[in-house]
Amino acid sequence: MTREVFKQKNGIIGKSQELNDLVDVVIQVAPSDITVLIYGESGVGKEIFARAIHNASKRADKPLITVNCGAIPEGILESELFGHKKGSFTGAIDHRKGYFEMADGGTLFLDEIAEMPLTTQVKVLRAIEGKEFMRIGSETVTNVDVRFIAATNKDLQNEVDIKHFREDLYFRLKVVTFNIPPLRKRKGDIEQLADYFIQNYAKDNRKILPVLTNEALHILMEYNWPGNIRELKNTIETAIALSKDEMLGADSFTSLLVKEKTYEDHRNLPVFLRKTPEEADRELLYRALFEIKKDLIELKDIILHQQKEVITNNNYDNEVLPLDEMEKGAIKNALDQTRGSKRKAARLLNISERTLYRKIKEYQLQ
Ligand SMILES: Nc1ncnc2c1ncn2[C@@H]1O[C@H](COP(=O)(O)OP(=O)(O)OP(=O)(O)O)[C@@H](O)[C@H]1O
Ligand SMILES: [Mg+2]
Repeated sequence: MTREVFKQKNGIIGKSQELNDLVDVVIQVAPSDITVLIYGESGVGKEIFARAIHNASKRADKPLITVNCGAIPEGILESELFGHKKGSFTGAIDHRKGYFEMADGGTLFLDEIAEMPLTTQVKVLRAIEGKEFMRIGSETVTNVDVRFIAATNKDLQNEVDIKHFREDLYFRLKVVTFNIPPLRKRKGDIEQLADYFIQNYAKDNRKILPVLTNEALHILMEYNWPGNIRELKNTIETAIALSKDEMLGADSFTSLLVKEKTYEDHRNLPVFLRKTPEEADRELLYRALFEIKKDLIELKDIILHQQKEVITNNNYDNEVLPLDEMEKGAIKNALDQTRGSKRKAARLLNISERTLYRKIKEYQLQ
């Protein structure tokens, strides 16, 4: 299938290099039964891609079952996934098929997988690996033929490091990983997406097609879209609903996007409002002094660190520090320097974050 046909069939809009590269890999992987893990911020299109993968597979005429692992209460998630036998627990008044069985022959999309409780993760891994599971309350095994797609907006490696996610399930899921870039990293898609949402909204609401001015487009391009494509869609729809004529100009959006922009633009600048020139000058001076103080503290840290290094190097003739002491010191130092960021500290130390966690515990550094 060509890239453009794939995009059109699945309602995927955009022409940026980032999107096209992603679509190309998706087309390549979709037809197989391989497990896919989709990463991406909220509203970036994880679900639209999961559906597209299913549609491009040989399972397209079988069901795609979506389970939002974060939305189903922990207590009933397992019976929702695996089904239950009549009488297996209070309230189980009937047999019930679970999502695994419903997806038989098709695809099971485990959305927000990071929210799945650890106990359920064990059972899901077993079901994925063995292609079989037991309904709750049943002693017999049920076989299924299911393709799995999982999605999350969390860093699963980090969830593994902090023991919120099982490593074995993570390894099983991440066979093929897709990262859907946030909209701010593929601004080349904004114009096409905006036109698409304008056309759809006008058609659905029988409105005359509004015109997006260049100025307005500029504002949309500048904004950083923390809610990604969903936010762009909602913003366009609100702007059209509130517009008095068929023009979508800068002012249609400034009031909708202003909050974030103002905060971003002005947070590092002095506030001059209702201040005398003397007050404003003084404030600038305070800020400059504050910045110098921060720099001095940083410089002091660097010098202290270098001194420590010199001492360690010079001492090696007279005194040899035990290896574990040195390791502990290095870890402490890295954590100090990165102000406690374990990810950055692990990178500095050239070890994995998981190893760092283990060592922090071992040396009781926290
Ligand atoms: N490339 C795209 N072209 C057209 N519409 C898109 C595109 N990507 C996302 N959308 C639309 O944006 C909205 C959000 O997409 P989707 O639900 O797939 O995101 P998500 O990553 O699953 O979000 P969440 O993390 O909140 O579940 C949907 O209305 C979807 O149709
Ligand atoms: Mg989603």
